Amino acid sequence: MKYFIKTFGCQMNVYDSKRIADILHNIGYTEAHTPKDADLIIFNTCHIREKAAEKVFSDLGRTKLIKDERTEKDLDTVIGLVGCVVQAEDGEIAKRAPYVDFAIGPLTYHRLPEILTKIGRERGTTIIDTDFPAEAKFDFLPENVSQGGCSFLAIQEGCDNFCTYCVVPYTRGAEYSRPIKDIVEEARRLVATGSLEINLLGQNVNSFHGEDENGKDRNLAYLLRQLAEIDGLKRIRYTTSYPSDVDDDLIACHRDLEMLMPYLHLPIQSGSDKVLKAMNREYTSKDYLTLIEKLRKANPKIGMSSDFIVGFPGETDEDFQATLDIVNEVKYIQAYSFKYSKRAGTPAAVYKNQVIEKIKEERLQILQDLLFSYQLKFNKESVGKIMPVLFDMKGRHKGQFLGRTPYMQNVHANLDDTYFNKIVDVKLIDATTNSLSGEIVAGKAK
Ligand code: 5AD
Ligand code: SF4
Repeated sequence: MKYFIKTFGCQMNVYDSKRIADILHNIGYTEAHTPKDADLIIFNTCHIREKAAEKVFSDLGRTKLIKDERTEKDLDTVIGLVGCVVQAEDGEIAKRAPYVDFAIGPLTYHRLPEILTKIGRERGTTIIDTDFPAEAKFDFLPENVSQGGCSFLAIQEGCDNFCTYCVVPYTRGAEYSRPIKDIVEEARRLVATGSLEINLLGQNVNSFHGEDENGKDRNLAYLLRQLAEIDGLKRIRYTTSYPSDVDDDLIACHRDLEMLMPYLHLPIQSGSDKVLKAMNREYTSKDYLTLIEKLRKANPKIGMSSDFIVGFPGETDEDFQATLDIVNEVKYIQAYSFKYSKRAGTPAAVYKNQVIEKIKEERLQILQDLLFSYQLKFNKESVGKIMPVLFDMKGRHKGQFLGRTPYMQNVHANLDDTYFNKIVDVKLIDATTNSLSGEIVAGKAK
């Protein structure tokens, strides 16, 4: 039996898809190269913005055609949905896509084997599982191995912050932190099977408070120091952080741990205190700038990244200008920016002072032009420097590899296979906004 998984959305979904693949391998499935060859097609879905959620349903239409074509050849196809769209729209799925055989929320995909058995008995209905279970799915997943030179590792899930625009507290549930021991074991396994870099994931990763072996709650800084002891692990990152949960211990890690990469994604969302308040973000722009000052003191080389939302209800020209001011102050080396998208069930969706689409579009364009100018400037300043690059992706052409610098810049270079999934010193020779090219400096891979 063969499976095909298509992943939408964030890095947590990429991690979840890998774990779903682990479950399927465990029960005898192998990966199909295209959905046409798959007996089981799974979409791991994202609900964060309207566009992401709608894309799931439009792409599903194509899957139905594949199912029909396969039926003509007497081949059975099971179609499943996993992830945040299921959690948010469980009532809609059977109506909008009745050919979907099962739909599971992001917290219960460990039940996939039982559900597949059930489908064998009950064809023709959509089985839905959107429980917020008492048990943690992590305890029921098969052991995973490295996904290459760089692996994701989920340490925390869910969110208790309830930003007024965000669906995550409703789709991923309340905050849960995995026990320290389980995370360290998983990290050791990933390193033993080839990972040089681990990216710790959580919707609010720096509010991590996992139990140690004595039942004591430990923070992210404690966990980072434990992981830094693992032989063979060269790089650690963590994402995504909430500004008011960055504590002094964590800042000290950026001073002390060389393997903690000098790049931090710390979303501010808006530079206007009025908008931040309406978003229910628990910091002001001044708090945020003070935090960055402390981080830069701890590690002067740190490069910052952020998420921004433009056109949040009530955002005026002055509020938007405050966002541009923050960008000019922090000079982000990379950032993600979005137009505010109304999400049913969130408080901001029913705010009366919605911003019209045209203004959202104009603001997004202005913000992105500014963000890209800083990103390009940083990349251009990197030209001529030698940086360690972890090459873990193959490029389009033979011999071309793609990798990342400590600052998450994309680098492509022509190398031979021995450098794949290794860290190599590279001289950067050219830069655009999104990537750099480089050539290997004579020497050994690390
Ligand atoms: N509209 C637009 N952007 C959103 N984000 C979260 N919810 C919304 C929304 N309703 C953005 C935030 C968050 C990132 C993952 O997605 O910037 O940090
Ligand atoms: Fe999408 Fe957010 Fe869910 Fe990730 S957590 S899949 S970004 S809605």
